[in-house]
Amino acid sequence: MDQNIFLGGGGNDYSQPQSLTLKYANRHGMIAGATGTGKTVTLQILAEGFSQAGVPVFLSDVKGDLSGLAKAGSEGHKLHQAFQDRAQRIGFADYTYGACPVTFWDLFGQQGHPVRTTVTEMGPLLLSRLMDLSEAQEGILNIAFRVADEEGLPLLDLKDLQSLLVWIGENRAQLSLRYGNVSTASIGAIQRRLLVLENQGGTKLFGEPALELADLMRVDENGQAVVNILAADKLMGSPRLYATFLLWLLSELFEELPEVGDPDKPKLVFFFDEAHLLFDDAPKVLVDKVEQVARLIRSKGVGVYFISQNPADVPEDILGQLGNRVQHALRAFTARDRKNLRLAAETYRENPAFDTEEAIREVGVGEAVTSMLQKKGVPGIVERTLIRPPGTQLGPITKAERKALMDASAMKAKYGQLKDRKSAFEILQSRADAAAQAAAEAEEQLETQSTAEREFSTARRYSGSRVGRSSSRVMRKKDTFATAMSEAVIKELKGTTGRRIVRGILGGLFKAR
Ligand SMILES: Nc1ncnc2c1ncn2[C@@H]1O[C@H](COP(=O)(O)OP(=O)(O)OP(=O)(O)O)[C@@H](O)[C@H]1O
Ligand SMILES: [Mg+2]
Repeated sequence: MDQNIFLGGGGNDYSQPQSLTLKYANRHGMIAGATGTGKTVTLQILAEGFSQAGVPVFLSDVKGDLSGLAKAGSEGHKLHQAFQDRAQRIGFADYTYGACPVTFWDLFGQQGHPVRTTVTEMGPLLLSRLMDLSEAQEGILNIAFRVADEEGLPLLDLKDLQSLLVWIGENRAQLSLRYGNVSTASIGAIQRRLLVLENQGGTKLFGEPALELADLMRVDENGQAVVNILAADKLMGSPRLYATFLLWLLSELFEELPEVGDPDKPKLVFFFDEAHLLFDDAPKVLVDKVEQVARLIRSKGVGVYFISQNPADVPEDILGQLGNRVQHALRAFTARDRKNLRLAAETYRENPAFDTEEAIREVGVGEAVTSMLQKKGVPGIVERTLIRPPGTQLGPITKAERKALMDASAMKAKYGQLKDRKSAFEILQSRADAAAQAAAEAEEQLETQSTAEREFSTARRYSGSRVGRSSSRVMRKKDTFATAMSEAVIKELKGTTGRRIVRGILGGLFKAR
């Protein structure tokens, strides 16, 4: 028999077990419902179920209340009796409390281990989205990535991108010949956006050691898989950073995981809370990309579950791909609410026992209209399901408990410290230093030279033949110097002082020629 995750009880007296079939769990899903209707608890019990089945989970904790997954529920909890009653009502005889192995992550490195990626890995499309760039600015960013590639400049952190932009500004004229107009205005605009991104905490996201996906897919010695919790409460203040990061993670998974078709159970399940943030005023290319990734990532064994107040927040093309659905109550105050409700109801396979639309309006807290994929991936008939109570703690763990778990984690040693290896910033810096030094040496040489020239001018009054020889020797010397200060070195000068020195010297030299 196929392995599954117990969801709750459906049918007339909530006595018919409803469950999510693991074999179809990679065909995505949705948890929707108005505020306070039970979405978070549903996510919690699904995460518990996946973890117990050995399927690693990645989820974002928007309100900070999911850290409770790391701790077993207890008889002392104020809802203990309510949970027991609920379990009994749905015939959940082996309901017990138990904890999940949890790893905490945090883009800001405070409530979890730092999650980092590199600028190169993020790529121009997502970075443009992250910085809200115009099409023209995105074009420049594309050139920047190209140039970094050609010049062998690793783009790890925002400092690297910043210094590359400076370099591009300085070599604007030449780059424009190759790639079309590279305007100072666009470069300036990107630099300003970069500042905004830094202020939003982007500095922390970019750098090394970058997150290794295998670290999200660990299973403990008991065969229980890790639930990865991304602290997202503070992150919600930068919705763009939040959405882009999760999208990046999804596309990384897509690119790195091998094709597995339809495995017995997923390799990883990804819960995307506040999913509307992903689509709010997102350009069409990006929505298309999400749609594409969602469609293709299935065969890599990754299930994606969107959590949202209203299913209408998710674009239709994507909604159509979400096979496993838990729809908590929706409100029906306004005409638009009623329209959304009707549309939501229409997407289910009707149950003759009740009216879907009415049920979505009426279900109580912790109750939902559910439809899970059945044999051959066919959507199940819609059910009114009383969701099972959680086995882990409802509500957050304490700060001290979180710290203890973080300290005990192997991820602490691996990701705790930022490592700044040689990348674009350092390389451009050292090239600039080298050029400045060459410039200084040249200056010295020139000084010696001018003494020689002075002597020679004096000498020339006496002998015509010496003029030719000496003069040509001096010219040769200049030529050698000009070659040494090859264009490549000159154009890579970064420090203004260095550049001014070189310009001064070369200006004189070239005129002399
Ligand atoms: N399956 C359940 N078993 C027991 N109690 C539940 C269940 N689902 C919800 N509840 C109760 O309802 C409360 C609210 O649920 P929950 O926090 O999941 O709502 P929500 O939809 O996530 O709300 P919000 O939109 O505000 O985040 C829970 O704190 C809990 O007391
Ligand atoms: Mg919630």
